Amino acid sequence: MRVAVLISGTGTNLQALLDELHGGPVEIVGVAASRADAGGLERAARAGVETAVFAIADHPERAARDAALGDWLEERSAELVVLAGFMEVLGPEFIRRFAGRVVNVHPSLLPAFPGVRAIEQAVEHGVKVMGVTVHFVDEGVDSGPIILQEALELPYPAPIAEIEQRVHGVEHRLLPRAVRLIAERRVNVDPANPRVVLIDDGD
Ligand code: GRF
Repeated sequence: MRVAVLISGTGTNLQALLDELHGGPVEIVGVAASRADAGGLERAARAGVETAVFAIADHPERAARDAALGDWLEERSAELVVLAGFMEVLGPEFIRRFAGRVVNVHPSLLPAFPGVRAIEQAVEHGVKVMGVTVHFVDEGVDSGPIILQEALELPYPAPIAEIEQRVHGVEHRLLPRAVRLIAERRVNVDPANPRVVLIDDGD
């Protein structure tokens, strides 16, 4: 499957996709960043994957940026768009253009703690269990149908840096697994309830 990855930062989730899947069930055909200083761009370049930057500030407005990004993805025949630490909201036109073909990894057990600072929100709320969610992206914020989730217990006191490390450990397994299942056509939305994602998990 031809997959494109969108990033905004360090790119450790991108690295997990490159290490686990690239050249196997998936070909990563491009990495696009929302900012030119995203560390993940170097990871893509090291892997010989084409990169580009689509910063909102470089376009008249967000919709124009999204349209240019969409053109770049279609020129590379991207079948799936993976948001791996892409910290911007994509507009409804973009989501409709790539309907059912955009997935995101989020560091909480959605629908709890959507949006930014999810780990901090969870710790500040004092939850005992948090986790990671991989979901399809719809026109809401972190509100699309859930593909995979994994929980982890929160020890208190809970230093954020330590929690982030543990969350990343889960993300680096869960996101490649979700993308592999999609590439193997084993992920389907339940026709009876489009909120429900059915996994043919025949492992
Ligand atoms: C990840 O924790 C992801 O869930 C969140 O942003 C972080 C990005 O990390 N949306 P990285 O850039 O993949 O290292």
